[in-house]
Amino acid sequence: SAAKLPGPLAHAGSHRRRGLPYYDGAPRWTLRGGEASMIPEKLKAALDEHVSAEIAAAYLYLAMSADFESKAFKGFARWMRVQFHEEMAHALKVVDYVLSRGATIAWKDAKGPATSFGSPLETFEKTLAHEKEVTARVNRLYQLAAAEGDTATQVFLQWFVTEQVEEEARVSEIVDKIRMVSDRPGSVLYLDKEYGKRTL
Ligand code: FEO
Repeated sequence: SAAKLPGPLAHAGSHRRRGLPYYDGAPRWTLRGGEASMIPEKLKAALDEHVSAEIAAAYLYLAMSADFESKAFKGFARWMRVQFHEEMAHALKVVDYVLSRGATIAWKDAKGPATSFGSPLETFEKTLAHEKEVTARVNRLYQLAAAEGDTATQVFLQWFVTEQVEEEARVSEIVDKIRMVSDRPGSVLYLDKEYGKRTL
């Protein structure tokens, strides 16, 4: 049953139950090198890149949150801060999965994001563009797992494929709404207030 699957395949959302935003504790079990069926080298390198990409997304949305905060868009700032936590949870999912396969992570340098992202419309357009890049990255990763014949990684990545559909839909709705009202500051402030209701 699903409940008997190893940690990384089963723990979606458990970080919330523990009352911590994204720290999920160690994976429930890990195999030592030699005992686990190894992730093919090329796929492992791509998974390392993906950890780095999710952390880069978290870093970007934290910077966007700070930018909104400095421009008094408190609600959008909060929305972005929740998104920061979501991205960290995505990174941890991949970390835990790699560990559960008995591999080690090759950590990458994180590049600092920009400080200013323009208007709310421009900021969410940049967010949507970024999410489309992440979607393309997830799709490439999935195709590589298939080409390398790593069934477990394909199954693991299905969660990310579905999640990206949700992420893009969520952000493009915000872009559409801000675009509709962008010449009316009062309406933009209303959306700021509405999107500030987002919780983890
Ligand atoms: Fe982790 Fe927004 O993709």
